[in-house]
Amino acid sequence: MEKSRSSFTGKIGFVLAAAGSAVGLGNIWRFPYLAAQYGGGIFLLVYLLLAITFGFALMCTEIAIGRKTGQSAINAYGKLNKKFSFIGWFGAVVPAIILPYYSVIGGWVTKYMTVYVKGDVAAAAGDSYFGNFVSNTGPSIGYFLLFLGVTAIIVLLGVEKGIEKVSKFMMPILIALTIFIAIYSMTLPGAMEGVKYYIIPNFDGFTLGKLGKTLLAAMGQLFYSMSLAMGIMITYGSYMKKEVSIEKSVRQIELFDTGIAFLAGLMVIPAVFAFSGGEADVGKGPSLMFVMLPKVFEFMGPVAGRIVGILFFLLVLFAALTSSISLMETVVSIIMDKTGWKRKVTCVVVFLGSVIIGLPSALGFGVLSDIKPLGLDDILTFFDFISNSVIMPIVALLTCIFVGYVLKPKALIEEIEIGGKFKAKTLFTVVIKYIAPVFITLILVSSVLDAFGIMKL
Ligand code: TRP
Repeated sequence: MEKSRSSFTGKIGFVLAAAGSAVGLGNIWRFPYLAAQYGGGIFLLVYLLLAITFGFALMCTEIAIGRKTGQSAINAYGKLNKKFSFIGWFGAVVPAIILPYYSVIGGWVTKYMTVYVKGDVAAAAGDSYFGNFVSNTGPSIGYFLLFLGVTAIIVLLGVEKGIEKVSKFMMPILIALTIFIAIYSMTLPGAMEGVKYYIIPNFDGFTLGKLGKTLLAAMGQLFYSMSLAMGIMITYGSYMKKEVSIEKSVRQIELFDTGIAFLAGLMVIPAVFAFSGGEADVGKGPSLMFVMLPKVFEFMGPVAGRIVGILFFLLVLFAALTSSISLMETVVSIIMDKTGWKRKVTCVVVFLGSVIIGLPSALGFGVLSDIKPLGLDDILTFFDFISNSVIMPIVALLTCIFVGYVLKPKALIEEIEIGGKFKAKTLFTVVIKYIAPVFITLILVSSVLDAFGIMKL
């Protein structure tokens, strides 16, 4: 049944494609607000530690599973062991949950781009500008549908390749611009306090309960940002050539992904301190970037601020689009495989389904703002929590148990060593067999109990 798979040309082709999926709103929008919310330096430290252990081991695992089986996630687990194909299914649910609310944020980015095209630099920096926009039903729905619709049209026409080409060329510009804005942000009056908050861990008043929440948030962010625990990297791995080193590729993707997230934090968090003169706004959540960056751009002056604003939101829009396309493509291809429906029909179904699932998130800051599922701030945060802090850790846990005790790490180590020596194989084995399962279980159980109000951390 399986057609012969095309593969990525050479080493750099694989790294770029996987990095393209990894780098998106997760790095630029999500990482800074989580870091701000969860204590700055402590979050950064926890995130980095998790990235070089969990992130590394899990990404090696997924890519190796993909390359070994030559299959995408749903079939890959089944091919290794019939009883475990449910892990693939479980992971497949994640992109279907993420895509709708990802498109809500994509809509916000689109909105802000138009704001800077129009030149409303000063208005966008106003304190209530973002709140007014997201609480206004028409525009909230409109920009969400626009972003999701564009994604659907691209997937429907199968013209992703064109977008990917453009975005490969835009990615370096985005990085350069992020560095520029970060430096500008750090030199604002009062910003150094923010830089310190972000980089230096401060353990004063840090309790066990806070540690648990920080760990869970950092772990969810790690999975989300690196597109792990949802089968995506298995699919990428299935296209990877045998002679390419998995270990080196993973290190490069991680460095790239984490580097951009770190820079995004340097761009946003110092601004929080420069403009609100303290820690008042660190807990702003999903709105943080959209509230803070316009203030930075306004400080640049009307002309420069407008140019930087247009350029920044345009580049972020492309990074978001490549991710949303890949998310939708994943959902579409799974449904097509399993139902035999045509591409067109499937795209329409996925689009409509995403509209239905996404609408509550889009309206959750306005007409539906009183709905606070599980006591979380808004509906979007709820969907975000379910995918990143519940389902993804479960998929990761199941993967570790399966690889650690059923398949055995050796099987994947052999696959990884085809492309060269696996230097970190002891770390890999220990993380997969012991550290990750124990940690994920502890974090997951305590936080779910906490979320449902059974136990207060
Ligand atoms: N990693 C992406 C980001 O940082 C988001 C994402 C999660 C994603 N899963 C994905 C993108 C699957 C493409 C495919 O924004």
